[in-house]
Amino acid sequence: MRYRGNVMMKRCFSFVLTMLVAVLVNCGTLHAEEIVCITCHSALPGKYGEPVKLWQGSIHAENGIACNACHGGDPKDAANAMNKDRGFLGAPAYTDVPAFCGRCHVGVLKDYLDSGHGRALATGGPNCVICHSNHHIVKASLDLINEKSCSRCHSYERAKVIKGAMQETEGMIVALDARIAGYKQLGTDTDRLEKELFATRNRFHSLFHNVDVKKVMAESTQIKGELNKLDATLKGLDEQSRQRKLAGAFVVAGLLLAGLLAHLLRKTFD
Ligand code: HEC
Ligand code: HEC
Ligand code: HEC
Ligand code: HEC
Ligand code: HEC
Repeated sequence: MRYRGNVMMKRCFSFVLTMLVAVLVNCGTLHAEEIVCITCHSALPGKYGEPVKLWQGSIHAENGIACNACHGGDPKDAANAMNKDRGFLGAPAYTDVPAFCGRCHVGVLKDYLDSGHGRALATGGPNCVICHSNHHIVKASLDLINEKSCSRCHSYERAKVIKGAMQETEGMIVALDARIAGYKQLGTDTDRLEKELFATRNRFHSLFHNVDVKKVMAESTQIKGELNKLDATLKGLDEQSRQRKLAGAFVVAGLLLAGLLAHLLRKTFD
């Protein structure tokens, strides 16, 4: 229990850290049209212009993470934009990519480095870009685990087991999310439920980078246990609202009956 508490704290901490680092790196955000990297590169042909189109519409563009947030450099001074003295890092080599992305995705980097993939980085393991691409990075989902992408270096068998276990849990999370939203719309106080689901979901979505079949299965089972508890709380709410509806129906029926009686009485006196 204590160990799990620590894991939760760690995940929560790493999530907050990602956002904090991103905010710090991004202090004094410029609009895309003021960033000289974009102005100059969008006019360049081939592999120097392409990143701009790919980046537009990425989750990073959406969150204000522009070229200079990843590559460094001075986004306000065209003449010195790519000067090393202005912090320009250039394009990272294959084995430098995890540390490059991990400046912001601190928790993911740690899980990745501990994993079979991270340990094999220098000997054919996939880096972040192999799975997420470099510039057109979108919201991550289990769709990234597919036969085409995961059987390039080894068989799909282990990937399939991981995906199966995670898909089931993902389904439970989506269903619980919808039910909680339903109660929120009805005006029920769902704060605690939302917080619990949020924490569990974060923990779940950082599970994958382990790529350790046993670990993923064991943690998925634990997470399912937590989701089942949430499910039980919601079932309690369902029961309460059923009873309330029933009580409501009785009141309506009672009123109708009273109305009918009043009507009959009036008729009798008329
Ligand atoms: C005035 C035009 C211009 C500006 C401004 C500019 N670049 Fe470039 N950039 C280029 C050209 C041309 C190349 C290809 C030749 C070279 O590497 O110098 C390039 C290359 C690059 C590369 C590839 C380097 C490599 O090692 O392959 C990266 C990454 C890059 N730029 C990022 C940036 C970033 C980030 C900014 C803004 C901070 C920026 N550029 C601003 C013109 C520009
Ligand atoms: C999320 C981080 C990230 C952002 C944002 C980003 N890049 Fe990159 N970029 C990378 C990585 C990682 C590589 C090298 C990866 C690889 O091997 O493909 C790279 C490579 C490049 C290269 C070298 C391409 C080549 O084939 O040699 C250029 C040029 C470049 N980026 C320009 C840009 C420009 C311009 C922007 C802004 C529109 C930008 N990048 C935004 C991560 C980023
Ligand atoms: C300057 C900080 C920064 C760097 C460097 C960076 N990212 Fe991000 N990344 C963010 C922020 C901010 C978000 C949007 C908020 C979020 O979802 O965490 C994001 C979102 C993402 C997402 C979507 C997360 C989701 O919720 O589904 C992926 C995947 C991702 N980044 C991968 C990468 C990869 C791969 C690299 C390196 C090529 C990289 N990032 C480099 C800051 C960064
Ligand atoms: C660029 C090559 C490459 C790609 C692409 C790749 N892997 Fe791997 N994978 C490796 C290497 C290398 C190892 C370590 C040696 C091994 O166990 O086969 C590994 C190991 C694994 C392991 C076992 C880890 C362990 O600790 O037992 C799993 C599970 C796995 N990969 C899943 C996946 C999934 C899922 C995908 C697709 C999203 C994927 N791999 C894509 C290269 C790759
Ligand atoms: C073998 C493929 C693979 C590699 C390598 C990989 N990822 Fe992922 N990543 C995934 C998959 C699949 C998911 C979605 C998991 C899910 O939906 O629960 C994901 C999810 C993410 C997320 C979203 C996590 C969240 O909390 O929602 C981020 C951020 C991310 N990856 C960044 C990275 C970074 C940074 C690296 C390199 C250090 C990296 N990934 C390496 C496949 C990969």
